[in-house]
Amino acid sequence: MKLHHVVSLLLLLQLWQNFVLSISSTSCPEQCQCFSTTTVICSDLLMKALPVNISANVTALIVLASGLRKITALEDLKNLTKLVFLSNPVQNISHDAFENLTSLQELEISGTLLLALEAGIFKNLDKLTKLLLNNNKIRILAPNLFETLEKLEMLQLHGNMLQSLHKALFLKLTNLQELNLSSNQLSTVDTSKLNKLKRLDLGLNQITNLSLDTFKGNLQLQILSLQGNQISKLDPGIFSHLDNLEELNLRDNKIEVLSSGLFPSNLKNLMLKENSLLHLCSSAFTNLHNLTYLDLSQNLLSSLPAELFQNLSSLEHLDLSGNRLQALSSTVFRGLFQISVIDLQKNNLTSLEADLFTDQGKMSRLILAGNQLEYLPSGILESLDFECLLQLRGNPWRCDCNLVYFHEWLYYFSKTVQDLSQVYCTEPQPLSGMSLTTVNKEQLVCINRTISETRPTINQATSSDSDRQCSLQEENGDIVVWCKLMTCTDLKLNVYFHQEDGSVFNYTMTEPWPGSSHCSNGTIILTV
Ligand SMILES: *[C@@H]1O[C@H](CO)[C@@H](O)[C@H](O)[C@H]1NC(C)=O
Ligand SMILES: *[C@@H]1O[C@H](CO)[C@@H](O)[C@H](O)[C@H]1NC(C)=O
Ligand SMILES: *[C@@H]1O[C@H](CO)[C@@H](O)[C@H](O)[C@H]1NC(C)=O
Ligand SMILES: *[C@@H]1O[C@H](CO)[C@@H](O)[C@H](O)[C@H]1NC(C)=O
Ligand SMILES: *[C@@H]1O[C@H](CO)[C@@H](O)[C@H](O)[C@H]1NC(C)=O
Ligand SMILES: *[C@@H]1O[C@H](CO)[C@@H](O)[C@H](O)[C@H]1NC(C)=O
Ligand SMILES: *[C@@H]1O[C@H](CO)[C@@H](O)[C@H](O)[C@H]1NC(C)=O
Ligand SMILES: *[C@@H]1O[C@H](CO)[C@@H](O)[C@H](O)[C@H]1NC(C)=O
Ligand SMILES: *[C@@H]1O[C@H](CO)[C@@H](O)[C@H](O)[C@H]1NC(C)=O
Ligand SMILES: *[C@@H]1O[C@H](CO)[C@@H](O)[C@H](O)[C@H]1NC(C)=O
Ligand SMILES: *[C@@H]1O[C@H](CO)[C@@H](O)[C@H](O)[C@H]1NC(C)=O
Ligand SMILES: *[C@@H]1O[C@H](CO)[C@@H](O)[C@H](O)[C@H]1NC(C)=O
Repeated sequence: MKLHHVVSLLLLLQLWQNFVLSISSTSCPEQCQCFSTTTVICSDLLMKALPVNISANVTALIVLASGLRKITALEDLKNLTKLVFLSNPVQNISHDAFENLTSLQELEISGTLLLALEAGIFKNLDKLTKLLLNNNKIRILAPNLFETLEKLEMLQLHGNMLQSLHKALFLKLTNLQELNLSSNQLSTVDTSKLNKLKRLDLGLNQITNLSLDTFKGNLQLQILSLQGNQISKLDPGIFSHLDNLEELNLRDNKIEVLSSGLFPSNLKNLMLKENSLLHLCSSAFTNLHNLTYLDLSQNLLSSLPAELFQNLSSLEHLDLSGNRLQALSSTVFRGLFQISVIDLQKNNLTSLEADLFTDQGKMSRLILAGNQLEYLPSGILESLDFECLLQLRGNPWRCDCNLVYFHEWLYYFSKTVQDLSQVYCTEPQPLSGMSLTTVNKEQLVCINRTISETRPTINQATSSDSDRQCSLQEENGDIVVWCKLMTCTDLKLNVYFHQEDGSVFNYTMTEPWPGSSHCSNGTIILTV
């Protein structure tokens, strides 16, 4: 029970109190409010025991934020269909507490101090369809606890301290459609007999490996969450039979590879955030024609195969943020006509191809912030919808003649750059730190580096090695470095251009020794 739910319910109670009390004060138990003759809500921290004289006509009883420590028998409420205990300091449930509540369909006991649930407490509840036991301290469930609940459709046990589950625990729950076991300390779970399951949440446990058969019986599964476990390997066939699966949450695991054809073809949402993916094979997502949401953020990807997204014709949201992408093939987003959000934030992109976004006519958000971009090539933003919002901060923009295209584009579309005031020039030196919005087009100039104007020198300190001798010659405007190598060794050349404004431009070249097998006299010519 979230605190704000409690607060808003209490508020609601107060609002209704006066006028409700006037209608039904005669039949309503002390410390409780009766919204109608069939619904009773008890919420009083001073209440230590359940009220004894609740009308037999009541169908819903809710005990909320009271001082109740023990749930005792509720006698003769044969018409009760819904019973809820939320945020009470309950430590014990008497063995006959629910014995005669034979009409009960929904039972919730959440936010208590319960450590265990004993066998038999649910034994007569054969009409129960929903059982919610969330955010308690439960460590132990009796093996046959759910044995009689054949009508149960929803079972939630999230936020407990379960460490293991008996093999037979779910065996009789043949009608179960939703099972939520997130936030426990489980390592293995057997749900193979639950063949009507539609939603299964095993998130925030300690599952390390899943056998191929783990979901064998769950053919109806629509939503599966394995978030926050320790899974590093996924067997190629583990999900392949789950033809109804629409959402698969694998966030925050240790997955390193995705085999091709791993995911079932009707998937709509796939979350792979916070894993250890280094490479993806080009067929990792083939067949996912219905995929609309793909989250690959916070992995270790440094490149993407050009064909990776080629069949994802329904994709609307693609999150690639927080990887190590250095470059993108110009065709990687080809065919993604439906896409509206591409997040490339916090990667290592140094440049983008001008035709990267040619098929993206429906974009509403493009995030390029936090990369190593110096320029945006001419035309790259041309096909984007003019309402597409961009984020560009945190790139080392080089404000010279190559940025004129972007500067001119901004004249018309500056409103679409959300963080424009934080887009700063890093280079060249005189404009460093200036916001791009304050730079005039006339300032976007390229410094003409004509090497013949300067007198190149060989720094003796670095070439005095006795096994190499280099000299510098000027030939038809080219600077040629001649090196005579006495031993078989690679040659590394650092060139420092001292520019007019005093800044230094460094250039490093490495040239391997030309002879492959034999070591003989060789000539290396490096051209800048
Ligand atoms: C039973 O309900 C009546 C009101 O209908 C109340 O006055 C009485 O105190 C209740 N008895 C107990 C034991 O709570
Ligand atoms: C239950 O409801 C019926 C009809 O709605 C009414 O006649 C009866 O008095 C109620 N019983 C109690 C115990 O309130
Ligand atoms: C219980 O429900 C039945 C059927 O809805 C109704 O006839 C009866 O009056 C209700 N109240 C009691 C006390 O059984
Ligand atoms: C349940 O009903 C039976 C039969 O009416 C009765 O003997 C028993 O005491 C009841 N149990 C509880 C806990 O009220
Ligand atoms: C109630 O539960 C607490 C803690 O689980 C336990 O120590 C105590 O013995 C139980 N009391 C009864 C009456 O069962
Ligand atoms: C399971 O419960 C948690 C906690 O309330 C919730 O966040 C999650 O969405 C639930 N899982 C499913 C599949 O409904
Ligand atoms: C999980 O993996 C470990 C080590 O690879 C292996 O020893 C163990 O049997 C596996 N457990 C399951 C349930 O597959
Ligand atoms: C995709 O969705 C459509 C309609 O929502 C559905 O008919 C189709 O079976 C789904 N699966 C594939 C693989 O296209
Ligand atoms: C980014 O790329 C540069 C080389 O272009 C490399 O040195 C650096 O380690 C990369 N950073 C990350 C986080 O991958
Ligand atoms: C650079 O300077 C040289 C010689 O001064 C000139 O021929 C050339 O056109 C200039 N290049 C640019 C891009 O300005
Ligand atoms: C270029 O080299 C000089 C001398 O080693 C160094 O001080 C400077 O930081 C280097 N600049 C860049 C951009 O690497
Ligand atoms: C390498 O060149 C030097 C000078 O040009 C020459 O004296 C020497 O014999 C040559 N060595 C070989 C192995 O060709």
